[in-house]
Amino acid sequence: MRPRELRPGVYSVGAVDWDRRVFDMLIPLPEGTSYNSYLVRGTDQTVLLDTVDPTMTHVLLDSLSGVERIDYVVVQHAEQDHSGSLPPVLARYPDAQVLCSARAVDLLATHLGISGNRVRAVEDGEELQLGSKTLRFVYIPWAHWPETMSTFLPEDKILFSCDLFGSHLATSDLIGDERELYLAAKRYYAEIMMPFRPILKKDLEKVEPLGAELIAPSHGPVYGRPGLILDAYREWIDGPPHNLAVIPYVTMHGSTKMMVDRLAGGLIDRGVKVEKLDLQGLDLGRLATALVDAATIVAATPTVITHPHPLMVSALYLAAELKPKVRFLSAMVSYGWATKAVEHMTESTAGLKAEVIEPVVVKGLPTDDDLQKIDALAGAIATRHAEAGLT
Ligand code: FEO
Repeated sequence: MRPRELRPGVYSVGAVDWDRRVFDMLIPLPEGTSYNSYLVRGTDQTVLLDTVDPTMTHVLLDSLSGVERIDYVVVQHAEQDHSGSLPPVLARYPDAQVLCSARAVDLLATHLGISGNRVRAVEDGEELQLGSKTLRFVYIPWAHWPETMSTFLPEDKILFSCDLFGSHLATSDLIGDERELYLAAKRYYAEIMMPFRPILKKDLEKVEPLGAELIAPSHGPVYGRPGLILDAYREWIDGPPHNLAVIPYVTMHGSTKMMVDRLAGGLIDRGVKVEKLDLQGLDLGRLATALVDAATIVAATPTVITHPHPLMVSALYLAAELKPKVRFLSAMVSYGWATKAVEHMTESTAGLKAEVIEPVVVKGLPTDDDLQKIDALAGAIATRHAEAGLT
């Protein structure tokens, strides 16, 4: 594919990966992804911003086929989906120097064996003059690795934001369709960025005043209206949770499903929005995305031996690692002869520091008395949400 001009002298030269279906052997990619790389030509010097995943090296090298000289390759992030094609790029352009953050130097040496005088660390805020264009490097640590930085091009008001504001979305659009992009970016935020909310807030405060008119992330299309994603990140990072209860569940013989249906109905009757997520075969990205706004999680599971079903163990492990802004936790457990499922789930989610609302534990099929307890749980959740003023 030929380079596509984003602004005069600024080109998209990366690769769209329509076929990739999983990232890190963990994150489903129902919409594929892209590995964005940008070429910036000043009157004096030419810079390549990031490379691509090593599986798509041929696409990048093909895009660069008419480019005779690259003076610098900026590595904004050392993870291999952006740095993996660095060795062949440096081989083609033997005079190019790598510029990266101070913390990336060690990562490039250990991950890719690139070191010595080919690599130079730039400081936070440092500017590189290319003649008619300038690149300003802005560290954005923990978005989502410690070494991550972004790059601002003031003459064109473009922020190259690296993984921050990214979306796993394969599309032929250079500028994204806003509705499609918002949903993909929310999912990406949930899966990749949410665990780092407190630090991301500071990163956001650094990049927002730059006044970018385009935001060009390292995954997914460009934002033609930066306010879309800046407003969304502010809300996702720092806004209150919504009046939403997420109910991940597993059912083996229908008992847990009966409880889930009763609870969901009770919550809806009381004005609480509900997302029921059957963990059997569930794309975990859906769970992660639901947790961005959730005020409450109610984990519903049968007992396997004495513990929660392994699908629930896995889901709660992920939920705890993602560190959503959830405020209330509860559980509904069914069992045959004994259970320690509640204790296990309470322990595994302790890091969320959420208030635990009295769980409902049922032996066999729920009785009328059990269903009344579930109604009471729905009432307790609705009351907590109302008292917190959640909308
Ligand atoms: Fe897209 Fe963290 O690499």
